[in-house]
Amino acid sequence: MKYFIITGTSSGLGEALAKSVIEEKNKVFCISRRMNNNLKDLASQNKTLLWYYEQDLNQMESIPRLIDEIFSYIDHEAVNEITLINNAGVVEPVKFLGDCLPIDIINHITTNLTVPFLLANEFIKKSEKFKCKKNIINISSGAAQNPYAGWTLYCSAKAGLDMMTRTVNLEQKEMDYPVRVLSIAPGIVNTQIQEKLRQADIQDFPMKHKFEKLHQENKLTDPIVAATGILRVVSDYTFDSGSIIDLRNVSS
Ligand SMILES: NC(=O)c1ccc[n+]([C@@H]2O[C@H](COP(=O)([O-])OP(=O)(O)OC[C@H]3O[C@@H](n4cnc5c(N)ncnc54)[C@H](OP(=O)(O)O)[C@@H]3O)[C@@H](O)[C@H]2O)c1
Repeated sequence: MKYFIITGTSSGLGEALAKSVIEEKNKVFCISRRMNNNLKDLASQNKTLLWYYEQDLNQMESIPRLIDEIFSYIDHEAVNEITLINNAGVVEPVKFLGDCLPIDIINHITTNLTVPFLLANEFIKKSEKFKCKKNIINISSGAAQNPYAGWTLYCSAKAGLDMMTRTVNLEQKEMDYPVRVLSIAPGIVNTQIQEKLRQADIQDFPMKHKFEKLHQENKLTDPIVAATGILRVVSDYTFDSGSIIDLRNVSS
């Protein structure tokens, strides 16, 4: 029996990941501020279990209790794989450093970096005694490796996630029942994040035209296609822990 904990399931890539997981009859814990009733309906049609936490992850003090509760629902006898997918993310503020409000900087780094650290920390702690396969998947971005003006916060947070992947791998590989950690960049995916980029001010985001052109030319990846690629990587244990993977370089 496989369990997935997926953040940011109300739209975009996270919703597509949850759909795929449900259709494979796996059990899923979904977390986002907005409820997603379509996922609930899909889970009941597929006769599989879904737990939905309508929660703002930036309310960080609730995270240990949340992961505690999630683990209390996991069947110790039947589980053979548990996967946390750190998917929730924001792109705003799309602005040069020097033009941002302090609170917007704090919120961005909280969602994109601090929350994944807190979730991973609790996941590692709570799953320590589980002998089954265990994964933490950090949804990264090409922006972790490539700087873009206007994306100082986004690039820095995603680069931080990639380094977390590499360092946690070093820590976990000495453990009796290690957690495998991967960073996966999904490519350019047709989601609300892309809509927000197309609405950005050109002065704040000089690369805006590149993203507008990709959209006009229908070159954005469908979220379901990206989700299928991510789940294929997760189930393929030839991808070693600590790997930083760009889906665009993985043959389908
Ligand atoms: N789209 C792309 O081209 C692209 C490329 C590379 C990487 N990514 C990454 O893919 C991931 C998913 O983004 P997306 O493109 O699918 O965008 P999206 O449609 O805007 O999805 C973002 C998700 O994150 C959730 N979220 C944001 N803040 C949250 C908070 N404080 N608490 C709980 N949930 C929160 C949102 O839910 P609520 O608003 O309901 O809370 C939403 O479900 C992100 O990590 C993004 O950086 C996307």
